[in-house]
Amino acid sequence: MPPFLLDWIRTQFPALSRQEHGRPVAYFDGPAGSQVPQSVANAVSRYLLTTNSNRGGVFTVAQESDAIVDTAHQAAANLFGTNDPACTVFGANMTTLTLAVSRALARTWNTGDEVLVTRLDHDANVTPWILAARDAGAIVKHVDVHLEDGTLDQTSFRNALSSRTKLVAIGYASNVTGTINPIAPMIAAAKAAGALTFIDAVHYAPHGLIDVTALGCDFLACSAYKFFGPHVGLLYGRRDLLEEITPYKLRVSSNQLPGKWMTGTQAHELLAGVSAAIRYLADMGRRCASTDCERTALQSAFAAIRAYEQSLSERMLAGLRSLGGYRVWGLTDAARIAERVPTFSLTHARFTPKELAERLAAEGLYAWCGNHYGLPFTEAAGLEPHGTLRIGLLHYNTVEEVDRVLEALERISA
Ligand SMILES: Cc1ncc(COP(=O)(O)O)c(C=O)c1O
Repeated sequence: MPPFLLDWIRTQFPALSRQEHGRPVAYFDGPAGSQVPQSVANAVSRYLLTTNSNRGGVFTVAQESDAIVDTAHQAAANLFGTNDPACTVFGANMTTLTLAVSRALARTWNTGDEVLVTRLDHDANVTPWILAARDAGAIVKHVDVHLEDGTLDQTSFRNALSSRTKLVAIGYASNVTGTINPIAPMIAAAKAAGALTFIDAVHYAPHGLIDVTALGCDFLACSAYKFFGPHVGLLYGRRDLLEEITPYKLRVSSNQLPGKWMTGTQAHELLAGVSAAIRYLADMGRRCASTDCERTALQSAFAAIRAYEQSLSERMLAGLRSLGGYRVWGLTDAARIAERVPTFSLTHARFTPKELAERLAAEGLYAWCGNHYGLPFTEAAGLEPHGTLRIGLLHYNTVEEVDRVLEALERISA
């Protein structure tokens, strides 16, 4: 990635100029929520000040508001890699959307049906399925994780899958270890067994290009506040499934897609912000390769993001290897850098994750501690109740910030 692009990127985010104790702060908390470009805040504010209206009115402002919502569906379709905006659904957040889909799908399950979840997933892609299975009398099976490198155990997955499996819930990337799961072959295997797939792409979305068409998944969910947008959840669903399955909804709400799955009045101002976040990414892509097509621009943006983030990961892992006292939970092999996003979970022999996070915070280095709601992994790894220190990088982080956090970790350990 040419340096001018990073300069351009950083000037888009007003929060990055924040100082504490006379030094710039560094945000390593992206996995819990990214910062937003000025253009996203402007879009939210502009909607509220000029286009604030409910759906379906016959007057100008309502029609402008409807057009903004339609644009958000098109932007979500561009992000997901589908040419059908009606297959994109918005909701409060990924958790709420997953609870809604799981409840609706459970109506189609019978006693003895099986559901697969993994020990590398965020609880938002585990507990909704456990609750839905309980209501339907279905059985839940858990796919194991290799604790030594934070990857999913593919033998455990293959053994758990059977002709009774109705649904496979898999994370695209782990928000604890940073592992990118091999979801394409897993989706293919689930499909061959006759199961539906639900992909949690929340942690993957800011790091890589999603392509629901190439993946062939049935459902995929993510959250705009992790990819530089406001607090909104996004869902892709296969058209025939969204049409066929009956959600819990009001009689007065639409039976057409996508409204059928969008209960109540949406946060329209935030949907304007979602379009702006996707536009920001596309604008970045257009600085790498000129194109009129938003999807093509997103492809070039994520190619640049992946390459840059991998270089940050290499530096981070090389630095972490030279530090004494810390354990990295996840892939550390430089040869497997393409199998992870730049999210690093650490534990220390003497300090708790909270103590580490507090010491970093005192230096203006913002990192997260705890189980990150990735409870299945922290339980399996025996990391409860403290969890890990999580240092998460995004494309707006710099080499200098990586070096700064490594130096701070070294000083703490010494
Ligand atoms: C991997 C992953 N999945 C799901 C979620 C839940 O997303 P939301 O806050 O939109 O419900 C998160 C949030 O941290 C996450 O990191």
